[in-house]
Amino acid sequence: MKKINKYCFSIYLFCILVSGQLFSERLILNPKQILDITSGELYQAQILIEDKIIIKIDKDLSKQYRNTKLLDLKELTLLPGLMDSHVHLIGNTKLKGYESIGESSYLSTIYGVDNAKKTLLAGFTTVRNVGAGNYSDVALKQSIDRNLIPGPTMLVSGPALGITGGHCDSNFLPHDYEYKSQGVADGPWEVRKMVRKNRKYGANLIKFCATGGVMSKNTNVNNRQYTFEEMQAIVDEAHSHGMKVAAHAHGLEGIKTAIKAGVNSIEHASYIDDETIELAKKKGTYLSMDIYVSDFILGEGKDQGILEESLQKERIVGKIQRQNFKKSVQAKANISFGTDAGIFPHGKNAMQFKYMVEWGMTPLQAIQSSTINAADLFGLINTGNISEGFEADIIGTKGNPLEDITVLEDVTFVMKDGIIYKQ
Ligand code: ARG
Repeated sequence: MKKINKYCFSIYLFCILVSGQLFSERLILNPKQILDITSGELYQAQILIEDKIIIKIDKDLSKQYRNTKLLDLKELTLLPGLMDSHVHLIGNTKLKGYESIGESSYLSTIYGVDNAKKTLLAGFTTVRNVGAGNYSDVALKQSIDRNLIPGPTMLVSGPALGITGGHCDSNFLPHDYEYKSQGVADGPWEVRKMVRKNRKYGANLIKFCATGGVMSKNTNVNNRQYTFEEMQAIVDEAHSHGMKVAAHAHGLEGIKTAIKAGVNSIEHASYIDDETIELAKKKGTYLSMDIYVSDFILGEGKDQGILEESLQKERIVGKIQRQNFKKSVQAKANISFGTDAGIFPHGKNAMQFKYMVEWGMTPLQAIQSSTINAADLFGLINTGNISEGFEADIIGTKGNPLEDITVLEDVTFVMKDGIIYKQ
């Protein structure tokens, strides 16, 4: 850890020198307490931030740095910004089923601007956007990185790869329209080419569909999509470019095949069994299980236009997924917090914490899944913790999340990259 801190610190000094900002603005946060998400301890200290970085954490920093601005957050418990490994920021979340195909990608992207803001203000400072057409996720990410609009740091996949007619292809229209989704690729060389194309246009991770899904038409969650050979080609190609791979997989065979092919995370993982949980642990594969969304789909889905076919699938999948989530927690699997926000309104991501605790996690484990675990899955070395040398992504709540995890549904302070977005 020290090595990383020193490394980050020298890069930081280098950046200050290069940009000529020798005397950039400093800020000291003075909270009630800080949650050490590694040990679960709550401790009292102040945090010195300069530019984007946490420079120092210590008691009485305000005495050592007398001319530095002090921000009193005496009612708040601070913890690192939260992360969600499975969101869909692009699009109007209210459009479901057939209505969803009537919106242009320009309009979807503008909805994305609003969704990104809501996500950030809810305390989610980093997200993985897993699947978007026309590389609109890349554009959204760029506008956030350039500080044109407020939003979380985004890792983006571009169009998700999928087989012809699979979950990542759209089967809503009949043959007459000759419609196919942009990430459709069949066979090892086609999938390699699609990975290369996504990288070319700005994706920094790859998403593919390894089984059928709930929300797609005419797919079966239990059926594997892509052969082992194809999945291996996707993973090999992506990894050779330093990109991580997320596989959508509900059914057991697809989950197993994707893990064997070397994916970094299984999204949903609904039908995972004990043996495959062990396999995932052995291979270091993360499970990103969206165990809240089922209640939303079954509660509001019908009114929102979700197909009856999808509701029927959800009635079965939702329960099984929660049971297998519990098994995975008990078996100490690697779990990253992923919600599928976009099916439900953005900014409500933290609703899932309560479910994770109800289904076997301690509050601390649930927080870790959304901070250190997610950072590890995303490949981020200096994000996801309140630690010297780390990026200043910090949130604050009035209550203690270790006593009541639902306080994370109402975050009152949000800082990303040293900038305060909510106070
Ligand atoms: N995008 C996923 C799919 O369509 C959503 C699954 C939601 N259901 C659940 N129980 N996690 O398959």
